[in-house]
Amino acid sequence: MTDRKAQLIVDGIDEPIELPVYSGTEGPDVIDVRALSGKGLFTYDPGFVSTAACESKITYIDGDKGILLHRGYPIEQLAEKSDYLEVCYLLLNGELPTPEQKAKFVDLVMHHTMVHEQITYFFRGFRRDAHPMAIMVACVGALSAFYHDSLDISEPYHREVCAFRLIAKMPTLAAMCYKYSIGQPFMYPRNNLTYADNFLHMMFGTPCEDYRPSPVLARAMDRIFLLHADHEQNASTSTVRLAGSSGANPFACIASGIAALWGPAHGGANEAVLAMLQEIGDESRIPEFVKRAKDPDDSFRLMGFGHRVYHNFDPRATVMKASCDEVLKELGKENEPLLKIAKRLEQIALEDDYFIKRKLYPNVDFYSGIILKAIGIPTNMFTVIFAVSRTIGWISHWSEFHSSPNRIGRPRQLYTGSRQRDYPE
Ligand code: SDX
Repeated sequence: MTDRKAQLIVDGIDEPIELPVYSGTEGPDVIDVRALSGKGLFTYDPGFVSTAACESKITYIDGDKGILLHRGYPIEQLAEKSDYLEVCYLLLNGELPTPEQKAKFVDLVMHHTMVHEQITYFFRGFRRDAHPMAIMVACVGALSAFYHDSLDISEPYHREVCAFRLIAKMPTLAAMCYKYSIGQPFMYPRNNLTYADNFLHMMFGTPCEDYRPSPVLARAMDRIFLLHADHEQNASTSTVRLAGSSGANPFACIASGIAALWGPAHGGANEAVLAMLQEIGDESRIPEFVKRAKDPDDSFRLMGFGHRVYHNFDPRATVMKASCDEVLKELGKENEPLLKIAKRLEQIALEDDYFIKRKLYPNVDFYSGIILKAIGIPTNMFTVIFAVSRTIGWISHWSEFHSSPNRIGRPRQLYTGSRQRDYPE
């Protein structure tokens, strides 16, 4: 923190208001506006476009340069050299693990993969065609009813146990959602498999025969988990931090993150991208959809394009696009029609003034759906995969919030409703 100041001159207030200015290690300086309420003023920033809601050391994004760092490491290097569980360790602990630390962490996670057998009864209450995100919100929230041995959230060890349980159990619950939707029996996790292999085993294996996922699919699955792991103060992470600020049960806080992620403007975009590509159906119809996306009177948007922070390529989308080519080539699906439509759409959009002027680029969701479809994941499970991956980001931010003195989050408002009035006699 520095001792720099900002001066705010407000009509009707005699003295300029001095506000401290802080610099981080990277990124924009911030003006500490907490003193304003004492002056009878609030800041106004719907959508939090210019608001730093907290201090954090976990992830840094430079939207103009298309940079994403997890504890300082560029996402491109992590995607190439690391794996999802190692990134989970990094996000939680701040440093990459030694080989021994990694082996212990992986072993711990892979031995927390089962869910309480009672959880299976929750599934029975849902229709088979229930959206899996609805089931995930319910079942992850319900985990708060099962673990009363780690509820002192001020205890680092308790927070660590919550993290292990959630990282380990999310894939199990996700695969259970899929199995329930197709009427197949739940597959128990196999602790001798890697995290991604185990997930694919629980998704596509059956009790009737051995299932060994292809190494290419497992690597692609791990990379998708890795690329979605964390992203600073996005809508769902901010939701988890705000829920956590009341001292709520961590599993309930993660359920609130899943709920926020579900929206098509956020994590639901990957499912919406696939639906959009399928609706476009043919490259000849792309201009019609680009025209609609540009029409201020049409609510249609090009799903998978644009970002609140990135005004350049989303570095994750670049890695995802390369991975998409690799996976489809390996699977002999390089001529997948949807990929051809996606690439043509990207090319047209990036040459169009509307998108150039607004700095709208493909985001992480634009290509992820095509890979997930190629792996065999059904479209309505795409955001569930995002939630499985982002759980480490949510729980890392939740834990960071509780690791230092904190206050409940309680924004104020600009009230434009009725003045006080009496109830009619
Ligand atoms: C994720 O925050 C995160 O980090 C999120 C995420 C993460 O990892 O957690 O990165 C994951 O959520 C990625 C984003 C996935 N969503 C989509 O792909 C949905 C489509 N994108 C848009 O809905 C939109 O771009 C948002 C929601 C992503 C960002 O919205 P903003 O920042 O509020 O921007 P905006 O709506 O104010 O748009 C600015 C302008 C507007 O035009 P004008 O009013 O200036 O004329 O750009 C236009 C918008 O109409 N615009 C688009 C567009 N996105 C923005 N026009 C057409 N198609 C689009 N996709």
